[in-house]
Amino acid sequence: MKPPTLRTKRLLLRRWTDQDRPDFAQISADEEVMRYRFAPLTREQSDALIDEIETSFDRNGYGLWAVERIEDRRLLGFAGFGTSDFGAPFCPAIDVGWTLARDVWGHGYATEGATAAMEFAFNELRLDEVVAHTTEANEPSRAVMHRLGMTHDPRDDFDAPWYEPGHPRRRFVLYRMQAADWRQEP
Ligand SMILES: CC(C)(COP(=O)(O)OP(=O)(O)OC[C@H]1O[C@@H](n2cnc3c(N)ncnc32)[C@H](O)[C@@H]1OP(=O)(O)O)[C@@H](O)C(=O)NCCC(=O)NCCS
Repeated sequence: MKPPTLRTKRLLLRRWTDQDRPDFAQISADEEVMRYRFAPLTREQSDALIDEIETSFDRNGYGLWAVERIEDRRLLGFAGFGTSDFGAPFCPAIDVGWTLARDVWGHGYATEGATAAMEFAFNELRLDEVVAHTTEANEPSRAVMHRLGMTHDPRDDFDAPWYEPGHPRRRFVLYRMQAADWRQEP
């Protein structure tokens, strides 16, 4: 299935273009945006991530959409789906995620984009469940999970295998949303 462009009141969730590359590299190089990740990305790493995302859309029919603000056509970041397959008890699973440029936080764009992605996941892809995970301290991301109505059972929390034991970001929280519990926005 060809993944569609999703449209919300203020946003377009669409496939990536070459014009996005410099803008996305700027977002990915921002230390505050990348605070809860490994490290800011170089231009090469940021371009490689776009390539990976595009491959995911072609292979799986889902991925992390480029989030464009309709009003001024600016690339704000991404929202959408990845695949979690790293041996934790909940794997394999499809996870929802988001990243926005620092200066557009606090406007509800992540929740708005992720809501459209979740509707696509449950209504079009007919998934049974979508999960979300992040390092414990990432409160802004956890707040998006709450706003989407996802639930958190601490018994699901896990150690991210991509961090060394003892790393301060190693402990991850897992949030879940089941298809039966998903309600469309009015
Ligand atoms: C995670 C991240 C996307 C959250 O961004 P955000 O702007 O806080 O989240 P939203 O877009 O949902 O916006 C919600 C905020 O906008 C406010 N808001 C303003 N207008 C709004 C509107 N029309 N609708 C909804 N919320 C609105 C909300 O009150 C809320 O504010 P608060 O944080 O003061 O409570 C952002 O912090 C980020 O990019 N972080 C770095 C990358 C990252 O860590 N990603 C997650 C990895 S797992």
